[in-house]
Parts: sequence; C-alpha cells; structure tokens
Amino acid sequence: MDQQMERPASSDPVRRSDFGDDFVWGVASASYQIEGGWDLDGKSPSVWDTFVHNDRRWPLPSKVKDHTTADVSCDFYHRYDEDLALAGAMGFGVKRFSISWPRILPEGSGRVNAAGLDFYDRVVDSCLAHGLDPWVTLYHWDMPQCVNDRGGWTSRRTVDEFAEYCGVVAERLGDRVKNWMIFNEPASFLLLGYLLGFHAPGRRSLNGFVAASHHVALAQAKGAAAIRAVTDGKVGTTHYFAPIRNTGDSPRHRRAQRRTDALLNRMFIEPNLGLGYPMDDLPLLRRVEAFMLSGDDKAIEVDFDFMGAQYYTRLVAPPLPLPLLGTIPMPGKDLAKDDVCTLGWQLQPDGLFEVLERLHGYGRFDEIVITENGMAVPDHVEGGRVRDARRIDSYRRHLSEARRAVRAGIPVTGYLCWCLTDNFEWADGYRSRFGLVHVDFDTQQRTIKDSGWEFQDFLTRGAAYGE
Ligand code: FCB
Repeated sequence: MDQQMERPASSDPVRRSDFGDDFVWGVASASYQIEGGWDLDGKSPSVWDTFVHNDRRWPLPSKVKDHTTADVSCDFYHRYDEDLALAGAMGFGVKRFSISWPRILPEGSGRVNAAGLDFYDRVVDSCLAHGLDPWVTLYHWDMPQCVNDRGGWTSRRTVDEFAEYCGVVAERLGDRVKNWMIFNEPASFLLLGYLLGFHAPGRRSLNGFVAASHHVALAQAKGAAAIRAVTDGKVGTTHYFAPIRNTGDSPRHRRAQRRTDALLNRMFIEPNLGLGYPMDDLPLLRRVEAFMLSGDDKAIEVDFDFMGAQYYTRLVAPPLPLPLLGTIPMPGKDLAKDDVCTLGWQLQPDGLFEVLERLHGYGRFDEIVITENGMAVPDHVEGGRVRDARRIDSYRRHLSEARRAVRAGIPVTGYLCWCLTDNFEWADGYRSRFGLVHVDFDTQQRTIKDSGWEFQDFLTRGAAYGE
C-alpha cells in the first residue's frame, strides 16, 4: 500500500541549508527500549523489568499489548557500535540516549557499579568515533526497582538519590558529554505510571501522582545542580506537549480544555520556571500543598540552558461527566485513516509549530531543541527495502513546520528523530515501529528504511527531504 501512495509535490521543499550551519540533527533513544541486557554485569532490575515480567495473561488485561519484554529488544548493549556507525553514516551529528540508573547504582544510591559506567563510557567513545555528539538523558523511566520499593517518586528521599546518581554519571562522562537532559517527559511517566497504572510502576493514586510530580520537579533542580557541580556542559530537560483543541464553546467545553491543557502542557514545566503550579486552571493541584516544604517554590526553579520539546500529536478534550478533569483527553474523531499512526496518534504537523511558538512565549529559552518527533507505521522488508512512504511524508511535513518556526524567529536549534532503530514501544510492545532502521527482532538484522535513506540524502547531499 505504501509504495502505491502518490506524494503531492511540495511547493517549498525543505533542505538542511534552510536551518543554518549550527542547527543540530540527531536521533534519540531510551535505555530500556533498546539495550536489552536487563540483568547483565551487575545491573539490578528496573521498574520496567518488574512491570513486564509480572505481566499476566487472560482473563486479566495485559500490561504490554503483545505480552513482550525488552529483555533483549535490539540488543544495543552488545550492538551499540554497529548502530552508532549507522547513525553516523546517515549523516546525523547527535545521538541522544538515556542512562539506565540501575546499571550505575544497583541499590539506587551508594555503591557504584563500575561495569555499568564502563558500558556508557564505551557508548560515548563510540559516538565520538562515528562523528556523533553524545547527548545524555538521565531519566527515561527505568528507575531501580529498589528505589520504587522505597516509594519511588512519591518519596522525597528519591530526589536526593537521583541527584547523587546524576553527579556520578556527570563526573564520569562530563569530559565528553556536553549536553544533558534531566528527564524524559515527566507528563508521560507520572500520568501513565503513577495515576493511570498503564506504565511502570503501575500505580493508581491521585495523591501519589501529585506527590511524585512535585518530587520530580524538585529533582529537575537538584539533578541540574549536581551535574553543574562537576561539568560545564549545557543542562536541559525534555517535555511532552500536545496542544488541546476545544470541541465546543460552552463554559463546560472551555473548562475541560483549560484543565487538560494545565495537566498535560503546564504543570510539569511551569513550577521549574518559577511560575508555580497552575492551580487556578487545575484545582486538583491544590493537593500539592500537602507535599511542599517551605522554600520549595524557590528550590524548584531551574535556569535551563535549553528546553527539549517532544511532539507527536494534538488532542481534544470533550466535556464528560467525570470528576476532577471533566474530560478524557483523546485523539480527534474526524481522522483520515492514513493520518493515524499505529498508536492511534493523528498526524498534525502544524501542532509542532504551535508547541514551539508557545514555548518561546515563556520568554525563558535561548535554545529550544525538538528532542523527539516521529511516526509509527506498519513496516515490511521486501527485497531488502522498507518503503515507508507515510513516515517520509510525516518527517517532510514536520521538518517544514520546524523551518517555519526558525523563520519566525523562534530559537529552535536542533531536531532529533524518534527513533534510530525500531524498539520496544512500552505498553505497545513491538507492535509500533518508529525506527529509521528496521530491526528483525528474531535475527537482529538491521535494514535502513527509505525514510532513513532520505535523511542521508538530506543531511549529506543537500537534497530536499521526501521530494
Ligand atoms: C515518547 C517517549 C519515547 C517513545 C515515543 C514514541 O513519548 O518519550 O520513549 O516511546 O514517545
């Protein structure tokens, strides 16, 4: 089906040169999703290991849709050099990856596992050898299980353990790593993992969610300080953003929209900017006062060197007779089938511009990096090729929106694709493929998809993407 699709010629082809020489191009990934080696070389279990290993089958609903785990996934633990070589050959200049906390500090704090640090040391050197600037995320959701057993993010003690971990990593890698991201998408792991229970650690508690959110906000600041104490690299973080559309104009519609917007787009970033929690628009946040100590409002502020924006789709918030939010955020209904990725997210490239413009509106960021953007479509290898026309179309349209932002004077300084290789997509397992490189999970064979070849032409030969 993909190869039969006709792509309309674009009136304004998008080229690398449109973004200027300093703009960085990269690929992103997360430790749990790609590494495998879940119990190797002194690593302790993470909350995701526990979550997937305790998955139950019928008649209970499965946690991971295809009942898989990332025990092996794409085996980046052993194949990192091969994969990084591919990213370098495709012309990328940045590899964003995350560190697995339980590889470094198997007890959460205290004893350092030398083999864990050595692994990331090798990954950093391999990045540099392949022309890739290593950008490190400290937390992409795989907390040590033992820290979770002590309360995880619901416990204030976790903030100090996390800061200790950040310092240990920065001390070892800070001579070569110059860009740090403290968290990956707090909105996602806090809402899905602490409120709704769909992700690890599978908790379902409103108070737990509120407490955890406050401790994560504190950990942004303490983690940043721990890194800055030992290196001079840039410190940023990343957030999920999804513009929320109204489905009507009544006060109920507007209230549902405002609450959802505060929940998804504001409550995880604004406290760190010194703007407090958006309690007026989201009254349930008044509960946070129970977890705030005096001085927290100041201690929480962070002067980020850059902000990472992650964008996939917009959502709607129809009013529903439900407590707290008065809605359930969901994809719009009027969707063309081809515009929906395998996770059900609607392709809405202009939402990326909206997100960047709004972030810029805070007046706080000298640099905004698109730290994730991509699309999952069903891919098949045929005759050694993967003809992923819909992914190409998605990248072409999002790149065009990123360029629109640059032209509008928004300081967007980089674009990182999600993802280099297909991998374990959390609760969706291996059903959703996001890679520029196809992975056969039985043989570990890699095949560069057409979208990946397009990036090579775009980055190394000045070609217009997807034309
Ligand atoms: C983001 C996550 C990333 C990946 C993509 C598809 O929300 O940060 O790990 O799952 O979605």
